[in-house]
Amino acid sequence: MTELTVALLGHGAIGSVIAGALREGHVPGARLVAVVDPATAPAPGLPVVPLATALARAELVVECAGQTALRDTGPSVVAAGRHLLALSTGALADDVLHRRLLAGPGRLSLCAGAVGGLDLLTAAGALAPFDTVTIRTSKSPGSLARPWMTEAETSRLRTTAEPYEVLRAPAREVTRAFPATSNVAASVALAVGDWDLVEAVVVADPGATLSRHEIEATGPAGRYRFEIANLPSPANPRTSGIVPYAALRAIRALAGNPGGVV
Ligand SMILES: NC(=O)c1ccc[n+]([C@@H]2O[C@H](COP(=O)([O-])OP(=O)(O)OC[C@H]3O[C@@H](n4cnc5c(N)ncnc54)[C@H](O)[C@@H]3O)[C@@H](O)[C@H]2O)c1
Repeated sequence: MTELTVALLGHGAIGSVIAGALREGHVPGARLVAVVDPATAPAPGLPVVPLATALARAELVVECAGQTALRDTGPSVVAAGRHLLALSTGALADDVLHRRLLAGPGRLSLCAGAVGGLDLLTAAGALAPFDTVTIRTSKSPGSLARPWMTEAETSRLRTTAEPYEVLRAPAREVTRAFPATSNVAASVALAVGDWDLVEAVVVADPGATLSRHEIEATGPAGRYRFEIANLPSPANPRTSGIVPYAALRAIRALAGNPGGVV
């Protein structure tokens, strides 16, 4: 079996865990050949290179660098014929970017990241369109502060003793308002195939030690309810610690993964 050569775009909280696991051989059939991150210095065994070198070396490019990075570099990855596995799914709220990433010749795949159940939602949505889909995300108030907020809004985040709804809107709007924390809402909208149908609710919860996502969907195929509560990454409170392991699962599947769940 030939090895799947892997490049990482981003070596932060997510990318560094993926790099460590690949370097330690935890994903049979996959080999780390490049890391692209302006904030990371080369180190023994860590092949930090420019993007052009990564595209020359790798078949699979895993984006774990953020929505801006996906917007700026994703099109060149697929244009070079490379398979792009994207984690910053919120960037795909931009339909023009999404179409460019689907234009090939390289393939686009999305990583489920911090959320589960997307396979079932996709299957149920294929049977018949949903009537309602809601995703309610509760996080610690400190992780929700954004530059567009008024002084009163950031003050309420700092001082609230009770959970409260910060925003309730269609998933596309919520994804734009909270780019670093709403990739899960985006992934649900992409799985359902309808950004406008999916209502996303962001809750600031001062008692939250976990990032909680409650997903409810109803339609002709049935009624679905998932609740996920993830521990934040020690390196980045906006990211759940599970996310690099979701990416490693995806890499394992793309590398062959005999006998694995698909
Ligand atoms: N799908 C999901 O469930 C999910 C969950 C969490 C995070 N994410 C996405 O993953 C991204 C990364 O998360 P993280 O916690 O590792 O963030 P992080 O801030 O810890 O690391 C991001 C790294 O990317 C690097 N970077 C930025 N722009 C770059 C570029 N153009 N090229 C190469 N590297 C670049 C930064 O220097 C940084 O080291 C988030 O911004 C978010 O969009 C998705």
